Amino acid sequence: MSTEAPPKTYRVESFGCQMNVYDGERMGEMLSERGIAPAADGEDADLVVLNTCHIREKAAEKVYSRVGRLTKAGRKAGKQPLIAVAGCVAQAEGEEIMARSPAVSMVVGPQAYHRLPEMLELAVAGGRATDTDMPAIAKFAALPPRNAGGRKSAPAAFLTIQEGCDKFCTYCVVPYTRGAEISRPFSDLVNEAQKLVEAGAKEITLLGQNVSAWSDEDDKGRAVGLAGLIRALAKVDGLARIRYTTSHPADMDDALIAAHGEIEKLMPFLHLPVQAGSDRVLKAMNRSHTVDSYLRLLERFREARPDLALSGDFIVGFPGETDAEFDETLKLVDAVGYAQAFSFKYSPRPGTPAATMEGQVAMEVMDERLQRLQAALNRDQHAFNQASVGQTCQVLVERKGKHEGQWLGKSPWLQSVWFEGDCAIGDLVQAELMEAGPNSLAGRVLIPAHAT
Ligand code: SAH
Ligand code: SF4
Ligand code: F3S
Repeated sequence: MSTEAPPKTYRVESFGCQMNVYDGERMGEMLSERGIAPAADGEDADLVVLNTCHIREKAAEKVYSRVGRLTKAGRKAGKQPLIAVAGCVAQAEGEEIMARSPAVSMVVGPQAYHRLPEMLELAVAGGRATDTDMPAIAKFAALPPRNAGGRKSAPAAFLTIQEGCDKFCTYCVVPYTRGAEISRPFSDLVNEAQKLVEAGAKEITLLGQNVSAWSDEDDKGRAVGLAGLIRALAKVDGLARIRYTTSHPADMDDALIAAHGEIEKLMPFLHLPVQAGSDRVLKAMNRSHTVDSYLRLLERFREARPDLALSGDFIVGFPGETDAEFDETLKLVDAVGYAQAFSFKYSPRPGTPAATMEGQVAMEVMDERLQRLQAALNRDQHAFNQASVGQTCQVLVERKGKHEGQWLGKSPWLQSVWFEGDCAIGDLVQAELMEAGPNSLAGRVLIPAHAT
């Protein structure tokens, strides 16, 4: 055991979903709170947190190769960084990582990262620590407020409202890496949203593996679901936009559908993963919805909010998926007309039921299906963007563009919009959408923020 100097700088590298990014931010905030500064771009950090994702193949391999590169760079620089492995790979394969990788001195799961500072003390003293416990929501109470020490938030911020998943889709590791569904308390969420707004956030995306399952009592003791929470957050002064992701088709209630028609701050965007277009495949996936129930649900959302932009997730090549069943996925895509979507090749995950199912689909077949699906999704995304041309909307300015005076923001439909003008990050500008590309639009500012 050798003692190291306490780290002065850190870097958190997040590899996963938005909840993983949120966790990465919170770990960073905790480290900053203890006087450790984020390393500058391109600079070696004294402490590196690999915030991993386990959702698809090669997750653990990626960790080992990153650790290998970090130790090699450390040898060159004459100083090894402290390495912590966090996130869902830590949860699933933490012990193995500790055994195989002596350069890793901390392994911490997604529900235990509030303990990172104590683990760090041990690591600095030359020890090694693993914590993959899943205490019910204990971590949030132990984290510093979002605006602690005058910390600033990005204009578009994340807020985890719900953890875990009870759905057990047969392909998915999340119920094992994140544990059971737990809702964070209503008052904590309103409070965290207020702090984020005080820190500069204009838009908040409510996060969870299954946000539509969120429930608690509101400040008046009434049982509320996601719609009730959104209504309460819409009253937070200075918060201009609310989004949520990801929801499951089985938990969408009437109140949430109505909220889309009634709450102006709730953006006209819905990410509702369907995964496949064949009822047989959906059943084998344990998805609990059918193609028809999914389409009918979307119809109701569109009635409440006719300009709603739709997004989804798809898996091609689930075990046993035939060519004809895959064609049904294409048919579903045609029927919906998604504004954007994510699509993946099925990846067998250790310990999940689908990994040992018969009829695993050959890689070449999955490649070909993915290509065809993505061509259809890209076509629809481009069409959606083209149909937006001529619209006037508010754009939230998120960052500077490549050229002087150029900015990138998001439309209410989550499209990236480039434009030129006199504004600042965090402004909400009124813009006309002028020209559509496959992935973004060019806009023209009509009313800058300071004139409104
Ligand atoms: N809780 C969310 C998101 C889960 S992970 C939901 O249920 O919608 C994000 C996406 O990854 C899933 O929607 C699914 O499309 C994809 N995914 C999950 N497990 C996968 C696997 N084993 N192989 C390929 N894609 C997978
Ligand atoms: Fe995974 Fe299904 Fe839960 Fe989503 S709903 S996290 S895909 S088990
Ligand atoms: Fe990945 Fe864990 Fe998110 S497995 S997708 S980081 S919940």
